[in-house]
Amino acid sequence: MKTSGNTILITGGGSGIGRELALRFNALGNTVIVAGRHMKTLEETIAGQQNMHAMVVDVEDPTSIEAFAERVIAEYPNLNMLINNAGIMRREDLSSHRDLRDAEQTIVTNLMGPIRLTNALTDHLVNQPDAVIVNVSSGLAFVPLSGTPTYNATKAAIHSYTISLREQLKGKVEIIELAPPAVQTELTPGQSTREGYMPLNDYIEEVMTLFSQQPTPKEILVEKVKFLRWAERDGHFNQAVEMLSKM
Ligand SMILES: NC(=O)c1ccc[n+]([C@@H]2O[C@H](COP(=O)([O-])OP(=O)(O)OC[C@H]3O[C@@H](n4cnc5c(N)ncnc54)[C@H](OP(=O)(O)O)[C@@H]3O)[C@@H](O)[C@H]2O)c1
Repeated sequence: MKTSGNTILITGGGSGIGRELALRFNALGNTVIVAGRHMKTLEETIAGQQNMHAMVVDVEDPTSIEAFAERVIAEYPNLNMLINNAGIMRREDLSSHRDLRDAEQTIVTNLMGPIRLTNALTDHLVNQPDAVIVNVSSGLAFVPLSGTPTYNATKAAIHSYTISLREQLKGKVEIIELAPPAVQTELTPGQSTREGYMPLNDYIEEVMTLFSQQPTPKEILVEKVKFLRWAERDGHFNQAVEMLSKM
């Protein structure tokens, strides 16, 4: 992918990893549209920046996604890059009968959100030069954290879906997977100061170096996520599952 001169849409661009990616890509000379449910955080992200824009979308809502995609294409006809970053992570206790609302919301946001938004933008993107889709999965796509079962499952699904997307759009859209390790953001309460999690700035620094490689790696994997990404291949999968369960 080219690293400047793109018009990039980033979901979940008002906080955490999405926000930092938005600012870093903007600093490299890209037009960036940040999207999320809350205009206030989006406006805080773009404040004082050139070529940054904010738009509200709820990726849980199919009608909102279709209308949003039409609006993005109308307002930013040069859009050539989508980063499906918005996501939620909930703890779930599977040991007795429970209300499944968290599980359903997690599937709709983390899995159907990217599927729907990609679907709504595909006809546009396949006709754009240098088109790119980045799907944000997780190290937990490869080794589950037992306390967040549906979250892990959505990320494993996004990993698989991304491979199919890459094959089907070969030659038309470059498909990249970004699989973060545990990073200090507010994805879960208190996580932004949790010890052992990677500081957000360090994470983004390493990620931007990987994005600048030519050709761009099809999976953006910082050193810290490789233990999980390659656990099965390297023969320490069971050990990794147990290690995460103790966290
Ligand atoms: N931090 C980690 O340790 C880690 C590790 C692996 C993978 N990831 C992945 O990285 C991505 C970013 O997470 P983060 O760590 O940066 O956490 P974050 O700061 O909580 O970011 C998540 C973003 O998603 C947006 N979002 C959530 N639900 C949405 C919806 N229905 N519609 C539109 N936007 C929605 C949120 O904005 P609003 O609430 O304003 O809508 C928020 O900006 C997620 O996909 C996450 O699963 C994170």
